[in-house]
Amino acid sequence: MEIINKRRSIRKYDNKIIEQEILEKIVRAGMQAPSAINQQPWHFFVIRDRDKLVELSKLTAYSKMLATASACILLVSDKRHVKATSMYSQDMAAATQNVLLEATYLGVGSCWIGIYGRVDRMEKIKKFMELEEFFEPFALVSLGYPENKEDLKFIDRYDVNKVTYEG
Ligand SMILES: Cc1cc2nc3c(=O)[nH]c(=O)nc-3n(C[C@H](O)[C@H](O)[C@H](O)COP(=O)(O)O)c2cc1C
Repeated sequence: MEIINKRRSIRKYDNKIIEQEILEKIVRAGMQAPSAINQQPWHFFVIRDRDKLVELSKLTAYSKMLATASACILLVSDKRHVKATSMYSQDMAAATQNVLLEATYLGVGSCWIGIYGRVDRMEKIKKFMELEEFFEPFALVSLGYPENKEDLKFIDRYDVNKVTYEG
């Protein structure tokens, strides 16, 4: 719960490099997510190349932070592993949340950039990343050490009106 409360979308980063070991831990966390019939339909592209990050930052009006991120992870679903077709997007969302939480735990700021469900964004990413046909873009997660520690402040979103206890 402590990490869940601490996680915030961080869009301003200092320029410190994220070590390979840290990136691997973040990806490992993604792969630990639950998935329908344990299909694990994901693949993770870890992007560190500055030029690529800058290009990706131009994808939407809401992905500008990638230009100054130290890295980003592109989560894609791998259709070769999708068996429960109605469920795989939920698997991907669970993996994305795990990535955000592990990044927070390791002191790395992150922000989920939505791709799946927006055909224009999905197509742009496919083209730019030259993805094979069986890969379908789901989300980008920008990563970098937070510039301002205050951006990590806890906001209590508990709303008693959004819960019903039965019985
Ligand atoms: C599916 C999804 C798509 C999102 N897409 C973007 C995005 O494109 N750009 C962005 O800056 N933030 C994006 N966010 C982050 C939300 O804006 C953010 O989670 C929300 O404002 C709550 O703030 P917090 O993450 O700091 O708690 C996205 C979050 C989700 C779950």
